[in-house]
Amino acid sequence: MLQERKLLIVSDNSELSDQIHFISEQFIKVETVNSHEVLKELDRLAPDIIIIIKTDDSTVELVQSIHAENSSPILLLTESQDFILLRDVIRAGAIDYFVIPDEISLFEKRLQAIIKRLETNETDVKEGYNASFKRGRGQVISFYSAKGGSGKTFVATSFAQTLKLESTAQVLLIDLNLQFGGIETYLSIESTRSLIDLNPVIEELNESHIQNVSEKESHSKLEILLSPKDAEIAESVTQGFVSKLIRACRRSYDFIILDLPSYVDDKTYIALEESDVINYILNLDTPSLRAFKDAEVLFQRLGIDVNERLQIIVNKTGKENEVTLKDIKDIVTVPVVTDIRYDKKTVQPMINQGLPLQKKPNEKKLPHPAKDIRKWVLSKLS
Ligand SMILES: Nc1ncnc2c1ncn2[C@@H]1O[C@H](COP(=O)(O)OP(=O)(O)OP(=O)(O)O)[C@@H](O)[C@H]1O
Ligand SMILES: [Mg+2]
Repeated sequence: MLQERKLLIVSDNSELSDQIHFISEQFIKVETVNSHEVLKELDRLAPDIIIIIKTDDSTVELVQSIHAENSSPILLLTESQDFILLRDVIRAGAIDYFVIPDEISLFEKRLQAIIKRLETNETDVKEGYNASFKRGRGQVISFYSAKGGSGKTFVATSFAQTLKLESTAQVLLIDLNLQFGGIETYLSIESTRSLIDLNPVIEELNESHIQNVSEKESHSKLEILLSPKDAEIAESVTQGFVSKLIRACRRSYDFIILDLPSYVDDKTYIALEESDVINYILNLDTPSLRAFKDAEVLFQRLGIDVNERLQIIVNKTGKENEVTLKDIKDIVTVPVVTDIRYDKKTVQPMINQGLPLQKKPNEKKLPHPAKDIRKWVLSKLS
């Protein structure tokens, strides 16, 4: 019975905890405890859901020690965006976080979903958390390189199209090159719509908003959010917008593919932080290798933990490469997951015409790069 279920609010901020208490008690029995008492009281209270309201410091440690004592889902609420903190609390064991008041309605929905799951699926509720609750179900896969022209847009676009053609997954491609855009020329899409059109609804963004603004590539039916064509409009895109956009897309799509620019500003930063996988596009020459080393230093300086997320995709391989694949594998410590051949003769005319390399599933006669990308995508799906 739901009456026996309990939610515990851990908070040193009475105003915020009263507000959350008020919302939550519509759905479940609620108790409140402060951060100093919680570890002593945890056994006695035996909560089924735990909400932690950010304390002044040591929030991560608090999440960690509560998680070690009690395996119930932990949600973190905070009053301001702090991406490093939010990332760390997820790693410490929280299943989601919300910025209050901006995301209060999102929080309420999530809480209801968790309670519903507690009600209907009592036995496997704990095992099921990771699969069904953790940060939405979608996987964010970004394509990045510190060097311009290495093939980020080409590979990201082909990867997304192939994934869409060869699976039943819901795939969304987002062009985050906010200064210059570019995906529309690859796919010959003429449109005045762009992701900035989502700005007025960003707080309550849902699938139908996204579908209203996205374009569809005509062969694969891949959904694409274009970047604004007007640089001045693009400037109004904020870091918060990008973060909310990605989080909302996670809830509606299986795969969110991000095409990123070479420069790292606050928007690129947050996109990298939100990525589950960062595909670094590397060409086989010395400047590209140097740029990769610089990028590693930059990630470290910005506190972007790329451990187990960063992988290398070698692009434009061929006979005339200055550096070999083996050299790369000897020099870098990051895994090299695939290599894509260079095929200027076939690819360039297709791009000039805005034609995708692969147009239907299981297509036999494909240009070399498309073959390589398809093989990689299929290995991911199996
Ligand atoms: N494997 C390949 N075979 C043939 N041509 C390729 C290949 N990869 C990329 N190209 C070509 O290289 C050029 C640069 O590619 P792309 O625009 O994807 O790079 P980018 O990294 O996105 O560049 P930017 O930094 O400007 O965003 C394009 O003309 C593209 O068609
Ligand atoms: Mg590009």
